[in-house]
Amino acid sequence: MNETNRRRTFAIISHPDAGKTTLTEKFLLFGGQIQVAGAVKSNKIRKTATSDWMDIEKQRGISVTTSVMEFDYLPEGHEGKPYKINILDTPGHQDFAEDTYRTLTAVDSVIIVVDSAKGVEMQTRKLMEVCRMRNTPVIIFINKMDREGRDPFDVLDELEQELQIHVRPLSWPIGQGQKFKGVYNIYEQQLNLFTPNKQRVSEKVETDINSNDLPKHVGESGASQLREDLELIDGVYPEFDVKEYLAGTTAPVFFGSALNNFGVQELLDCFVEIAPSPQPTQAEERMVEPSEPKFTGFVFKITANIDPNHRSCIAFCKVCSGKFVRNQPYRHIRLDKTVRFSSPTQFMAQRKSTVDTAYPGDIIGLPDTGIFKIGDTLTEGEDLHFRGLPSFSPELFKYIENEDPMKSKQFFKGLEQLMNEGVAQLFVNQFNGRRIVGTVGQLQFEVIQYRLEHEYNAKCRWEPVHLYKACWIEADSAEDLENFKKRKYQYIAKDIEDRDVFLADSGYMLSMAQQDFKGIKFHFTSEF
Ligand code: G4P
Repeated sequence: MNETNRRRTFAIISHPDAGKTTLTEKFLLFGGQIQVAGAVKSNKIRKTATSDWMDIEKQRGISVTTSVMEFDYLPEGHEGKPYKINILDTPGHQDFAEDTYRTLTAVDSVIIVVDSAKGVEMQTRKLMEVCRMRNTPVIIFINKMDREGRDPFDVLDELEQELQIHVRPLSWPIGQGQKFKGVYNIYEQQLNLFTPNKQRVSEKVETDINSNDLPKHVGESGASQLREDLELIDGVYPEFDVKEYLAGTTAPVFFGSALNNFGVQELLDCFVEIAPSPQPTQAEERMVEPSEPKFTGFVFKITANIDPNHRSCIAFCKVCSGKFVRNQPYRHIRLDKTVRFSSPTQFMAQRKSTVDTAYPGDIIGLPDTGIFKIGDTLTEGEDLHFRGLPSFSPELFKYIENEDPMKSKQFFKGLEQLMNEGVAQLFVNQFNGRRIVGTVGQLQFEVIQYRLEHEYNAKCRWEPVHLYKACWIEADSAEDLENFKKRKYQYIAKDIEDRDVFLADSGYMLSMAQQDFKGIKFHFTSEF
């Protein structure tokens, strides 16, 4: 395996509390990145490991930042170079959904964690939409089988309906809750018996599903139920085809309990085998193959002030092709400037260290002195622009005002920086010059206020503005556009890229505008 082929870059996504953090932690255990005996409470990793950098996060106990964890892993019985796993962590809280969407632009596949009792929840549905937009291959892990949950067939039906994807179970639970006996690994044709509370121990039994031994392990009723279920599965679901998985049309499904570390290794082993290695990346100019010799990469995430002692930002850059080398000159396309990085970092479970080289699929942290925006491209010289994910029209809007006139420099600098990081969207009303911040959740307003104060020493004040949607507008005829802007002058704004935006204060106003101005195209995402 070459450097690119051995890499697996993915995100674990879920509705909050389904078990994403717990599963991530178990993966790190297998990768030898952390050594913890016994079940570690999921919050622990949030409080000690890399995913919890910002004060506000600690206060609220939610993951605001997206961090990266990498480790090597070689499944038992395999020889040669290990796989290099890059897990991109995502905030679970829905108010930071945009952050997660952006992270999904940097992964080659995802694992979705679903709570067996709760089934598909709102956040999972939204995240799956983004995966579908990008045809990202998906594996589903049905978690918490040690608890009473729903009938697994019902859960599978719900997954198909709600997530609009075909599913194919590759493991199957034998009982659940108190009666949970283990899983049958359909992929490996192996029975794994569950021993509660014993970490990293699961008894694997090689047994034919038709063998007379089966009842010995799972009881008479367990055995007959399992045989019946497997027959039904074979009847209902087509055989697993890895091509359909890679195309993003079929999701293999695993069952287990992350907390008890059960079914996790099966998931990980199958994952490294079938999940895609780094894929080509679409730039505006052309498709960029990971095997190309020259380095290219793009920034998908900027995090400020990871270390409170050094008030600096880190830009997370995904390597798309070639080899990144420390101290080499690279071209920052948007600024048309040569940049060098003397201390790029890579991320391990509990620390980060300087990295000398990185390959496609890797995520490197570049110290950012304010030169990066989300979506920026770095190359060895070629004019390339990687396509990011568009901004979606925000759901909530407020006027932002500078509360302390003596600190206006700090205020504007902080605001600009936070918008470049993609914390929220800023629109400047062309009529009255007031600034409007748009977010997907209330919490983002609080984050902005908190960070302006703590990182930029500036104070802001929010004032209500009644808005329904912000739509990006364009027209084939410049005259039509000018006419529209003149007629609606009170509702026209610019975004930070200087694009025209129409601020509609009601659904009625928007549909009237659409009706009356046929020459104007109204877009609900920023890329069209
Ligand atoms: P998240 O990152 O998706 O938000 O979920 P997280 O891993 O934090 O897990 C949420 C809760 O579910 C945690 O309990 C965790 O211990 C529990 N959990 C995770 N996997 C399993 C499982 O397989 N079986 C059972 N029974 N529980 C599981 P908590 O009480 O919210 O937190 P903590 O106090 O235990 O840390």
